[in-house]
Amino acid sequence: MKLLPKLPNAIAYGGDYNPEQWDPAVWQEDVRLMREAGVNLVSLAIFSWSKLQPNEDTYEFGWLDRIMDLLAENGILVCLATATASPPPWLSVKYPDVLPVDASGLTLHHGSRQNYSPSSPSYQRFAAALVRQLAERYRAHPALAAWHVNNEYACHTSECHSADSAAAFRVWLQKKYGTLDQLNAAWGTAFWSQIYQTWEEIFTPRRAPHDRNPTQQLDFRRFTSDAYRHLFRMEKAILNELTPGVPATTNLVWFIRAIDGRTWAPDLDFISWDCYPDPLTGHAAEHFAAVGHDVMRSLKKDRPFLLIEQAPSAVTWRSINPPKAPGVMRLWSLQAVARGADGIMFFQWRASQSGAEKYITGMVGHGDPAQSRVFAEIKALGVELPKLAPLLGSTVPSRVAIVFDWSVCWALDLEAKPARLDYPGWASELHRYFYERNIPIDFIRPDAALDGYALVVAPALYLLTQKDAANLEQFVERGGSLLATYFSGIVDENEHVVLGGYPGHLRRVLGLRVEEWIPFGEGQGNALQFTATGQSSPVTQWAEVVHLEGARALAQYTGDFYAGGPAITEHAFGRGVAYYLSAKPDNSGLTSLLDQVVAKAGVQPVLKTPPLVEATLREGDGERYLSLLNHSPAAVSVSLAAYRGTELLSGTAVSGQLTLAARGVAVIQLHS
Ligand code: GAL
Repeated sequence: MKLLPKLPNAIAYGGDYNPEQWDPAVWQEDVRLMREAGVNLVSLAIFSWSKLQPNEDTYEFGWLDRIMDLLAENGILVCLATATASPPPWLSVKYPDVLPVDASGLTLHHGSRQNYSPSSPSYQRFAAALVRQLAERYRAHPALAAWHVNNEYACHTSECHSADSAAAFRVWLQKKYGTLDQLNAAWGTAFWSQIYQTWEEIFTPRRAPHDRNPTQQLDFRRFTSDAYRHLFRMEKAILNELTPGVPATTNLVWFIRAIDGRTWAPDLDFISWDCYPDPLTGHAAEHFAAVGHDVMRSLKKDRPFLLIEQAPSAVTWRSINPPKAPGVMRLWSLQAVARGADGIMFFQWRASQSGAEKYITGMVGHGDPAQSRVFAEIKALGVELPKLAPLLGSTVPSRVAIVFDWSVCWALDLEAKPARLDYPGWASELHRYFYERNIPIDFIRPDAALDGYALVVAPALYLLTQKDAANLEQFVERGGSLLATYFSGIVDENEHVVLGGYPGHLRRVLGLRVEEWIPFGEGQGNALQFTATGQSSPVTQWAEVVHLEGARALAQYTGDFYAGGPAITEHAFGRGVAYYLSAKPDNSGLTSLLDQVVAKAGVQPVLKTPPLVEATLREGDGERYLSLLNHSPAAVSVSLAAYRGTELLSGTAVSGQLTLAARGVAVIQLHS
């Protein structure tokens, strides 16, 4: 499926364009340079509200008309923003209910961005009016290719505790629970004298003397994701009404905890996301990007996504912000394509001269573009990307999935746990095994249809409904392999413990019972030993006292009062098998386990490659595309095994052995 009907035969290429920061004389230079760089799409007007609407009764579109026309004349399409992410100062002065309030009751003022409460009726009214104006004005404009709704919802204002938010929270709760009795039961309010007698007594979880009610907090996070989604839907409904057929998206960020992308995905016409790996983290950076691409691609499996923002080089919002080394921007861009992107875009086209982001590298910088390494690389990529047009619309098939659920993350983030667990970190660590072996992998929710998968990995699936546990159990029963890890199946959707023994509803499929959790402090730990090989592996962070109820131990603990107890187990169940990893082993232990699990599940890598060479496959229209990405700064030779085809960037036939330059990439259209 193609992302942009108006751009059916080209990989999208461009960036955020903020012409309102510049004198119109610069605009001519901008479009000239855009053409030189092969730009075919820009995200326009993302933070222009105060320029588009100088007061309550006046809209000023003249400047936007001119720039839309100029772009159209130059064959550059526009992903037009709805400009609602940064309300103008006049709005919050006149309608102070627009402003968000933090958990301490402190109002967050204008003077930055995202200065709005998602539940403010004034914000909603004025945002809707602006979107209608924009859609009516540009509905037939030849440059309009897509809508960019708002910007990174909840990035800065991850929650709001205003009176409007409290009122909206109550309405959300009434819809969910119907009666106060139901709410009191779900929230466990008999604990610490919290029983509610009227709805008016209920607030958002504001700052309190000690740990706040966990279910209240969990519901508030669900509410917040829904409140922002309501805003997206509000804008989308107007856009659908006035510009049917023009796709609309919003730029997601997979690790912004406030937004549950999975519930949002059906409302987005295509997925787009902002990817900012940290160049300081070495090869962890490209793995960080791979996780994000896989999370985002999995939100809509049947179509590609758009990498809508990445840095041309450096950012400024970390404490140390080095540039991307030569070749890295190209490599990471092509990595996104390899993992399912049909467009590569940047923040931002021209580096700002003023404001908080002026040192973030632009595609065009502060100096002469003709003398800029970054612009030279941008131009070179603009020449190459059209060669990858055959990949458009193709997708990334995968037989392995990681269960990742924001409800689990939110529940694990709550206070008062045996230890703080880094859920996204643990999921990423498990993903890394598959990434390093070129095994395609999706991220799914526990209620997903699992039929196409051979192996499902469920890290710390702490919160799990009985229905979702049954989904996993049936998957195993039908012949699938499930690997669950420690601290799974502990609580239900209300964050109430599933009684009768851990891991609750997973006990039957895993064939075991967990009696105690053993979290470790710094420098503490245990070790486990594999029964079959005798290999031993240190355990840190977490271990458990496990009793077998049908499963057999693959590894045992070697120390402490539970020495000899099962650490890793295997349980034949129905036609499949369920594994349980009760501890956090070191990399060698994890690798040994996963090698065994993957081999038994019959999962194959795309290609065996030397270290730091990533291989992926995209498929579509009966064609297959093998991408090879060399993340090392030295040339490397890769055996293509039985693959042969045409390397699209060079246009040459390849088979046998292929040499990839340092940070080099090959994209091969395979011959069957
Ligand atoms: C993104 C944001 C952009 C810009 C960019 C800077 O998170 O959407 O507007 O701020 O970061 O790196």
